[in-house]
Amino acid sequence: MSAVLEIEDLHVEIRTAGQSSRVLRGVNLSVESGSVHALVGESGGGKSMVTRAATGLLPRSARIVKGRIRLAGQDVTHWSERQWRSVRGTVVSMVLQDPLTALNPVRRIESQIADVLRRHSGLSGEALKREMLSLLERVHMRDPERVLNQYPHELSGGMRQRVVIAIAWACKPQLILCDEPTTALDVTVQKEVLKLIRELGSEGQGVLLVTHDLGVVAKLAHSMSVIHTGRILEEGTVENVYKNPQHDYTRALLSATPRFDRPGHTLKPVADELIAKLMAEAEHLDRLEAMR
Ligand SMILES: Nc1ncnc2c1ncn2[C@@H]1O[C@H](COP(=O)(O)OP(=O)(O)OP(=O)(O)O)[C@@H](O)[C@H]1O
Ligand SMILES: [Mg+2]
Repeated sequence: MSAVLEIEDLHVEIRTAGQSSRVLRGVNLSVESGSVHALVGESGGGKSMVTRAATGLLPRSARIVKGRIRLAGQDVTHWSERQWRSVRGTVVSMVLQDPLTALNPVRRIESQIADVLRRHSGLSGEALKREMLSLLERVHMRDPERVLNQYPHELSGGMRQRVVIAIAWACKPQLILCDEPTTALDVTVQKEVLKLIRELGSEGQGVLLVTHDLGVVAKLAHSMSVIHTGRILEEGTVENVYKNPQHDYTRALLSATPRFDRPGHTLKPVADELIAKLMAEAEHLDRLEAMR
């Protein structure tokens, strides 16, 4: 496996009203191709800053003061907006919390997907239409022909997020950044969308998944980092971090996560169960791979 995203000792400062504050303080993080890496931590810890830095979308008031970001082997730390534009969609793309902000409300889904595909793949006519339908099928969209003709407000939240994932995935980028991709969705829809994200990870894409939900991490991610006040406190495989947290903060996060099926219980036993299941699944996949 190789790292599609490597962040080394990243320090980011934000300047507002003459004052500067450091929001990232020496972040190290890497995402391997074909795997899901979770970034967890409480609100304001710097999770979105990390994803924004990795897509060249830091706020204007932010400045990288130290460190390095490598994307698919290229040093992108001080890239211009023009340079970033050449890789967004093709090398890196993003799925955000609220699919409505990612879609244009006054344009049909067809034209929004077509834009991305035309720009990056040069497809047109029937071939373009076929590719759009196959993308929507890939994200398990029901009735894709109909969806192409609809506007975002005519779709449910889960359908919109599938469209956003289809667009993010249209050009098979090497890295997909998902920043709280399911927080705005119903619980049942959340599960399906998360499964989809996991599938992306197993198809060779690297996925960085930002979430505050440790249950999701246990189910979905291969490795994880814990961030707090701009510092990475802990990182490793999900199994290692859950079974053997090194930091009090991580222990607190783990024990503060409620069990959904039995209120009042903590996540720890669930995590163990899930990890066992995940490991069995991974072994099964390895065996299948070996038989090919
Ligand atoms: N546009 C901005 N201007 C100034 N400060 C900002 C801006 N965006 C974020 N910050 C600050 O940067 C720090 C990190 O914020 P960030 O959005 O990365 O947190 P987060 O971990 O994503 O939180 P959440 O879970 O709430 O999304 C916070 O202290 C926040 O107040
Ligand atoms: Mg955030």
